[in-house]
Amino acid sequence: MVEVKNLYMNYGTTKALIDVSFVASSNQVMGLMGPNGAGKTTCMKIVTTQMVPTDGTVTVAGIDILEDPIEVRKKVGYLPETAPLYNDMEVVEYLEFVGKGRGLDNNRLRSRIDWVVNSCKIKEVFRRPIGELSRGFRQRVGLAQALIHDPEVLVMDEPTSGLDPLQIIGIRQLIKELSAHKTIIFSTHILQEVEAISDRIVIINEGIIIADGTPDELRQMAGENQGYVLEIKAERRKVEASFKDFNGNIHLEYTGGDGEFSRFIITSTDFEKDWKAISEKVKTEGWLVKEFSPSKSSLEQAFIQLTKESAGK
Ligand SMILES: Nc1ncnc2c1ncn2[C@@H]1O[C@H](COP(=O)(O)OP(=O)(O)OP(=O)(O)O)[C@@H](O)[C@H]1O
Ligand SMILES: [Mg+2]
Repeated sequence: MVEVKNLYMNYGTTKALIDVSFVASSNQVMGLMGPNGAGKTTCMKIVTTQMVPTDGTVTVAGIDILEDPIEVRKKVGYLPETAPLYNDMEVVEYLEFVGKGRGLDNNRLRSRIDWVVNSCKIKEVFRRPIGELSRGFRQRVGLAQALIHDPEVLVMDEPTSGLDPLQIIGIRQLIKELSAHKTIIFSTHILQEVEAISDRIVIINEGIIIADGTPDELRQMAGENQGYVLEIKAERRKVEASFKDFNGNIHLEYTGGDGEFSRFIITSTDFEKDWKAISEKVKTEGWLVKEFSPSKSSLEQAFIQLTKESAGK
């Protein structure tokens, strides 16, 4: 578990963190999300004892980062924005070097290297100099070094940045698997990512936490009902008039058109019941349907809403 309480960080006159508090629980993935310059890296550097905060307390697995930073480092694996690699070393040499630095004896080092090579899927580059590796493999080796001492807490700063789609899926899967036995904090500015793997999402903007909860809770905080996209071959006004029959139980929002097609976001308080009625209506009117599906951007809408609300404070 990681507990952050009333954390402040000033760089000269820049206030990078303002009264930041959150808890990352054991056996969970916490996604720290926010735009560029929000304070994500600053926060992670403090949690991993790379930097001392201006004010506030952080405990990692019950240990205070200021009272016993050495002990905290034993419990934490850290993958920074740019993995700390030595280009001249072969992958295996590098992992041995990091493992010894972490105090692993020879037996333990062997078994841990086997484990990270397997789980981070770096067997094929095991004997290659790090300087020759592609971005994706460098990132995986970076993750391997963070995991070599089997830390209780894993902190990763934008772990999937610069990876191709297949590699991204692989890393996400690995993060999910690891979370069964660890506390994981990772940062991203990609909504789909945070939604895909986080049990808990903390949104930070300009150094201030603006939301904290499960993906579902965040959607609710933004006051959003379940939404569906409906794109049909029909005139906007005709569709709107036709949906008046529903007496306000269904809300229709026009989001644009494409040629003869009109696109709407439909929200309803009881969609299980209402989608059948909507389908019937579409059938009776004889409208050609291009899309009728759950609106995937709901967390995105929540994020926009929450950021707007925080800007207005
Ligand atoms: N060493 C530093 N000296 C001065 N200001 C800094 C320093 N590091 C970060 N900052 C400032 O602190 C704020 C937060 O930066 P931080 O790197 O934590 O953001 P971030 O959320 O990680 O952004 P990104 O998504 O771009 O990585 C920014 O305004 C940044 O310019
Ligand atoms: Mg950053």
